Amino acid sequence: MLRLVVLISGGGSNLRALLQRCDDPAFPAHVVAVGADRDAAGLVHADEFGVPSFMTPFTAYSSREEWGDALLEAVRPWAPDLVVLSGLMRLLPPRVVDGLGPALINTHPAYLPEFPGAHAVRDALAAGVDETGASVIAVDHGCDNGPLLARERVAVLPGDTEATLHDRIKPVERRLLAEVVEGIAAGRIDLKERA
Ligand code: GRF
Repeated sequence: MLRLVVLISGGGSNLRALLQRCDDPAFPAHVVAVGADRDAAGLVHADEFGVPSFMTPFTAYSSREEWGDALLEAVRPWAPDLVVLSGLMRLLPPRVVDGLGPALINTHPAYLPEFPGAHAVRDALAAGVDETGASVIAVDHGCDNGPLLARERVAVLPGDTEATLHDRIKPVERRLLAEVVEGIAAGRIDLKERA
């Protein structure tokens, strides 16, 4: 049973979906803690599922590196087998990536390497593409350019807004994330060799 720590910044709908999957005894993982870089609305899902949570506010530290060190200290006691970035809108400092990796993965609402960065859905719309996607990657020192673990195309439909497109992407992200977690638990995905 993999011990997961999930890190969020926002509403946490993908976190909620993962918590629901973990309620299935056949799912080979459980969330031992949820962390956030701010008072994220998504922390309520941890409370509702009885999962401990912590907050390491980015704005409380004088540098990204100091924040990162505090985040490491907040995550480590949970002894995670895998850390999942699920809507964490912060670039992790190298010390954190090295400290948590290679068991550190991220979901992204685009078909990487297309549209990396914090506005992937908006960028795909602006590019006028007729398909984008969802991806799960292993996190390295770059921004959304770590080793691909899973990705799947998602159609962009006429009249899509950022919200309607993102709402079509998220269920795919959630399914891919669950599949990757199952693959890691089953040993089909070896993050050490991907690093
Ligand atoms: C997800 O699409 C994630 O990939 C992106 O931000 C979104 C988070 O959504 N980084 P939520 O907070 O899980 O609803």
